[in-house]
Amino acid sequence: DDRFQPINLFEYEKLAKDHLSQMTLDYYSSGAWDEITLRDNRAAFERVKLRPRVLVDVSDVYDGLRLRNLTTSILGQPLQLPLLIAPMAFQCLAHPDGEIATALAAASAGVGMVLSTMATKSMEEVASACDKFPDSLRWFQLYIHKDRELTRALVEKAYKAGYKALCLTVDAPVLGQRERDRRNEFALPSHLHLANLATISGLDISHEKGESGLFTYFAQQLNPAVTWDDLEWLQSLSPLPLVIKGILRGDDAVRAVEYGAKAIVVSNHGGRQLDGAIASLDALAEIVAAVDGKVEVLLDGGIRRGTDILKALALGAKAVLIGRPILWGLAVAGQIGVSHVISLLQDELNLGMALSGCAKLQDIDPSLLTLSRL
Ligand code: FNR
Repeated sequence: DDRFQPINLFEYEKLAKDHLSQMTLDYYSSGAWDEITLRDNRAAFERVKLRPRVLVDVSDVYDGLRLRNLTTSILGQPLQLPLLIAPMAFQCLAHPDGEIATALAAASAGVGMVLSTMATKSMEEVASACDKFPDSLRWFQLYIHKDRELTRALVEKAYKAGYKALCLTVDAPVLGQRERDRRNEFALPSHLHLANLATISGLDISHEKGESGLFTYFAQQLNPAVTWDDLEWLQSLSPLPLVIKGILRGDDAVRAVEYGAKAIVVSNHGGRQLDGAIASLDALAEIVAAVDGKVEVLLDGGIRRGTDILKALALGAKAVLIGRPILWGLAVAGQIGVSHVISLLQDELNLGMALSGCAKLQDIDPSLLTLSRL
């Protein structure tokens, strides 16, 4: 058909605006307070410059049509691309199929998907929708509620439903203040629910006067007293490996490893938690150096181009997670839109590698970046 076809992730963002209510658009796109960190996540990628190698044979792997082999692995599980979809709440606000569409697009492309505690499709529904893809990488993202039995139930359900890791988000002891959500008095419409929680707890996001319903939910339900010492308890609840998401300092990364984490996600929650926090790309080198190869390091925040993935890998990330552009794809065209966003990134990474003299992922090293960054 002759409908406008986006050719990059920024065009998806523009197009998505026509498919979303103002409240949803604000919720998806916002950062905390002045959105300094939100902007800096992007600016950090723009600051880092590439030093392409020339006269490298990239012919046999890049012919303009055939895709380079970009396969890798995370926690021993294969991926077709060094890419995962970041955990994001309330995906049914973008499309009725919500997290199911996202998971199917991820599984069919061979990329990872992290399902949020705050999903609007349950972890069991998402898992069974993907049963044609038994090897796909799916993790469950955990927020620890004050009610320990609720947390235990979530972890047990995730394990039973076949999720391969627990991704504990540690940058949200309380919710960051996203002022547009406060103005909008953000709440879920009555037909949507916290699918992972509603059945076991009856909890939901309700309308609050003068405040975001999500902000109030966090304040009332999530446990801001969680510390490193709780990680032992958490790991005792299931055999799932622990991934810690939201680390921005080398010393915290070292502690995470000491306390049993098997991977770390360098992240500032897409600029939605502490405004003024360091851009995730700027935090990466210190953390990679600190963990010294003991665990895999992933990164999210501001990935919008294939060359952004290239830069993150050059600084030592094993893979990256992508957030908002997935929601734009989902809003525009459901599963097909998400698949297209993934394939645009894949094509761009592929082309960026060829243009910088990288025949394979293993050729991406720190020397690819300007010396001032090292
Ligand atoms: C998020 N993020 C998030 N993280 C998490 O651990 N649990 C969650 O439920 C959510 N929910 C959520 C909703 C929305 C609408 C957004 C945009 C983000 C943060 C997310 O996992 C990731 O860290 C950032 O989105 C990455 O930055 P980019 O790619 O959006 O710039």
